[in-house]
Amino acid sequence: MRENRVIIITGVSKGIGRATSELLCSLGYRVVGWGRNAPPFEHPSFRFIGCDVTEPDQVNAALEKTMNLWGSSAIYGLINNAGFGLFGRIEELPIDDWYQMFNTNVHGLMLATRALVPILKQNGLGHIINISSIAGLQAMAQTSAYCATKFAVRGFSHSLYAELREFGIKVSCVYPGSVSTNFFDLIPGIEPNEHMLRSEDVANLLRELLETSPNFLTVDVEIRPLKPGGGRK
Ligand SMILES: NC(=O)c1ccc[n+]([C@@H]2O[C@H](COP(=O)([O-])OP(=O)(O)OC[C@H]3O[C@@H](n4cnc5c(N)ncnc54)[C@H](OP(=O)(O)O)[C@@H]3O)[C@@H](O)[C@H]2O)c1
Repeated sequence: MRENRVIIITGVSKGIGRATSELLCSLGYRVVGWGRNAPPFEHPSFRFIGCDVTEPDQVNAALEKTMNLWGSSAIYGLINNAGFGLFGRIEELPIDDWYQMFNTNVHGLMLATRALVPILKQNGLGHIINISSIAGLQAMAQTSAYCATKFAVRGFSHSLYAELREFGIKVSCVYPGSVSTNFFDLIPGIEPNEHMLRSEDVANLLRELLETSPNFLTVDVEIRPLKPGGGRK
């Protein structure tokens, strides 16, 4: 079954997207990564397609190329992973950062989903997995723009699961706590560390979601580091 399934993952150069691409390829899935930069690995089941998810033309072209590679009937999954966060006080965060976060985290995810849904409807099955954040469940100070994007992902996902379930298409939303990735390169004062979640473990969760039985729909999954501060001393 895995061999016949094509999974599209956005944002594959590093972090969760890269780990998930590697894991799914190693298990026999065919993975197409859509991103601005290719990941530093090769696998016979992996193809990279250059795509900035904020650009509608590039998203549509990436889908066209994906269908040319392996046909449309094999396309099963879309993992909307591309995203980033910039934190700061409301009056200090540059307005362009707001727009760029919304364009990537919300509009990019919406564009990829919108392009793919007609194909999945044609196929009569599929699974869209959106990566939100605990910042999409619980707001924190000085993260208003990022929280707003991740709350939007939650609302979008909930509406879509209700809309698409009758077509045999699953929509799931994942809310990770801190994951040790390059995400924190853009956030002064927080360093990735061993107490955070690992990309490999998030990848494994995404695999589990893809492999639930046909009539089983997971709507939301919240995941957290067990001991974010390192535990009791
Ligand atoms: N790390 C965490 O603590 C954490 C927690 C909760 C949720 N998340 C979410 O998890 C997702 C993955 O983040 P990560 O932790 O793996 O961070 P990461 O290591 O920085 O990876 C982010 C990926 O998104 C890609 N990307 C960004 N903008 C893009 C665009 N416009 N078009 C295509 N690709 C784009 C990046 O590619 P290039 O920059 O190479 O183009 C990169 O591959 C994000 O949605 C993030 O919000 C992360």
